[in-house]
Amino acid sequence: MSKLVIRGGKPLCGTVSVQGSKNAVLPILAASILCTKGVTVIHNCPDLDDVTITVKILRFLGARVKRDGHTITVDARSKIKHRIPKRLMQKLRSSIIFMGAITARNHRAKISAPGGCKLGARPIDLHKDALRALACDITEKRGYIYVNGKNRRSSEITLRFPSVGATENILLTSCMTGGVTVLHNAACEPEIVDLANFLNAMGASITGAGTPDITVTGVPELHGTVYTVMPDRIVAITYLCCAAVTGGNIYLSNTVPDHLETALSYLAQCGCLVEAEDSRIHLSAPKRLTALAEIETSPYPGFPTDAQSLFLALLSTAKGTSIICERIFESRFKTADELSRMGADIKIKKDIATIYGKERLSGAQVSACDLRGGAAMVIAALAAEGTTEIDNVCYIDRGYEALEKNLQALGASVKRI
Ligand code: UD1
Repeated sequence: MSKLVIRGGKPLCGTVSVQGSKNAVLPILAASILCTKGVTVIHNCPDLDDVTITVKILRFLGARVKRDGHTITVDARSKIKHRIPKRLMQKLRSSIIFMGAITARNHRAKISAPGGCKLGARPIDLHKDALRALACDITEKRGYIYVNGKNRRSSEITLRFPSVGATENILLTSCMTGGVTVLHNAACEPEIVDLANFLNAMGASITGAGTPDITVTGVPELHGTVYTVMPDRIVAITYLCCAAVTGGNIYLSNTVPDHLETALSYLAQCGCLVEAEDSRIHLSAPKRLTALAEIETSPYPGFPTDAQSLFLALLSTAKGTSIICERIFESRFKTADELSRMGADIKIKKDIATIYGKERLSGAQVSACDLRGGAAMVIAALAAEGTTEIDNVCYIDRGYEALEKNLQALGASVKRI
């Protein structure tokens, strides 16, 4: 088990290039099995454990996959299996997206519940209801979900909540289903737009992605394409927080500032100078940040729940009292306990965290509770006095490529032991 050892107190300065998006590449890889004419070449795939597991799933299904640096080529022209074993399903959350992809390709699927970070209850009822609305028959037996999609047909669906994963499953299931499927209250996250763009590049007909109303006109088959995955917006916010909390001055390249609007505006409200131009962002931080009156997580374009833990760490050293309301995932405040070990003063009441900013945190032995919680501990450690050891680094590795190398290049004292 490796640990990250961070000696805090150094302002981060320099340039970092943002990796491709984890949450975009995973559904795009699942979608690649729909291509029966030609191959798909996917650029800007981050080198992460979750991508490696997804490639394993694709190979298990029978696709030929070549991984060359940040480019993955998928050839799914031969027969694709209709089932994924539990041991692979349970390794990550986005394995659930294969439910729609396999059903579209094979008219049936056998999968189990997915794994992923423990952020509270993570039901998949919306995914199943959506497939049922598309006239798929779903049964469950001994931990497996069986989808029979032989008679599936287009439909009009309104999601009870704009779930990212359920929206992705609907796009995948319906893009090769005859007729026109109309989805209301769809998730508007940029990763949904990226998936729709990828499917359209393969010949699908999807309009409205990025808005709550998406129309999918089914096409008989999809063809090969070359596609570049969008930059990771949460990784971008992470590096900005690392610089902000240390009084640093950094430039991000390979990013889409429009995707980060709410986070950028909060960083500016904390006292940072934030400038965005084309695919670059410049952030220059004051010696000490100012507290934020109230932040609330909500679906895009609101403040992302994935950035909540990052701001919990950031605001722990801001001047004044901040409030964060978590409206998406119930167990996302576990990181507060770990931050407290470093001297942070955070009170949690149900889904509201009150953060009383301390001038300094101090180094301690802490743990990553989940992927973004782990990144939050890195942010806190960079700001703290003394040395922090973070264990459970495997969580952080699920979402960040070359984290310590990038932080070292920005002047941080970080090593892995
Ligand atoms: C995706 C992201 C995750 C991000 C989240 C919200 C991936 C791999 N993960 O997760 O990083 O934090 O979007 O932006 O892309 N819900 C239900 N029933 C369902 C599905 C979801 O009640 O069937 C609820 C969830 O419990 C949660 C909310 O809806 O409270 C949001 O979940 P959802 O948007 O589906 O998140 P994921 O797709 O799992």
